[in-house]
Amino acid sequence: MKIAVLKEGAAGESRVAATPETVKKFVALGAQVAVEAGAGAGASYADGDYAAAGASVGDRVATLAGAGIVLGVQGPDPATLGGAAPGAWIVAGLNPFGAGENGGRARVDAYAAAGYEALAMEFMPRITRAQSMDILSSQSNLAGYKAVLDAAGVYGRAFPMMMTAAGTVSAAKVFVMGVGVAGLQAIATARRLGAQVSATDVRSATKEQILSLGAKPIFVENVAGIEGEGSGGYATEMSEEYQKAQAELVSAHIAKQDIVITTALIPGRPAPRLISDAQLATMRPGSVIVDLAVESGGNVEGAVAGEIVERHGVKIVGHRNVAGRLPADASALFARNLYNFLSTFWDKDAGKPVLDDEIGDAVRLTRDGAVVNPRLLS
Ligand code: NAI
Repeated sequence: MKIAVLKEGAAGESRVAATPETVKKFVALGAQVAVEAGAGAGASYADGDYAAAGASVGDRVATLAGAGIVLGVQGPDPATLGGAAPGAWIVAGLNPFGAGENGGRARVDAYAAAGYEALAMEFMPRITRAQSMDILSSQSNLAGYKAVLDAAGVYGRAFPMMMTAAGTVSAAKVFVMGVGVAGLQAIATARRLGAQVSATDVRSATKEQILSLGAKPIFVENVAGIEGEGSGGYATEMSEEYQKAQAELVSAHIAKQDIVITTALIPGRPAPRLISDAQLATMRPGSVIVDLAVESGGNVEGAVAGEIVERHGVKIVGHRNVAGRLPADASALFARNLYNFLSTFWDKDAGKPVLDDEIGDAVRLTRDGAVVNPRLLS
């Protein structure tokens, strides 16, 4: 089985889907690995290191020739996959619900039309067995960390309390909205930097986690029937009554915060709006908001993907692809996710992975020329 590792085509994407470490492991499984020249450059992995790990390094045509598995961070343009084996697997974050050139339904349809078997790694089910294959977790963790550093970078004050001969610098107050994988890491990182941290989520199970990280939970209480927990540990959309209570709570809290990190997502739906322009206006000038959900519609009114904008004296940071701002670590973890996935299903006799269980059903978007995933058919 030949595995092709492509140089990413999307603008601003500096990650790579395999590292010399995972190439070595694939070779040990008996696979042949081809890496497109320069694929790892953005993440500081040199062509020579891939070659030393056992890969052939060449141009795109040579890389794809006869490949049965094509690895990517983002889905490759189907028009650029000429030479791959018929029915080749495309294994990447395929962003099937996204809009624009690097995802979306049209691209999934194009994979189907070309006869590829497209496997969307972000559809990995949230089961214990698949934890080591979960790109959303590995990348969100890094994004949560980086979001705090990005906030610190544009904030005109310090995070920790400092007592100096010239007087005291007070600790920054950081509020984290959405306490999933990214939010938990954001809390931990802000605490390490010495901030006073509070956090909120719709899933009541997160309250304990917030406390265990030494932060203060800010929760909507006394709204009937609210647990916020949907299937697979994800959030659901909340009732109007809840949204109103949450908005009031946030309004009171937010005016006293210096930094807000928002991470709230609902799978397959636009991100919930958590901060309105009017709420933003109550914050002190010089405050900073980082909206990690900006590419999914944004948690913050006025946030712009790819930009840092200022409204009412508050900076709203809307970087795209925040995990990709730590390309070496993000690639290392992403590459291990892909290796863990393919090696788990590797059939030694067949010399290739065989994917015939619930994980396959969850991630497979296309097969035999058709779109087959229930999440895309309903
Ligand atoms: P996510 O990225 O989908 O959402 C981020 C956070 O935003 C979630 O905690 C969600 O509850 C919260 N949120 C949604 N709407 C909100 C609103 N209106 N207000 C405030 N917060 C809101 O979630 P993520 O980070 O992917 O993780 C969700 C859960 O899944 C976590 O409990 C995590 O531990 C679990 N998980 C389990 C895995 C496994 O078992 N394999 C793998 C990864 C995560």
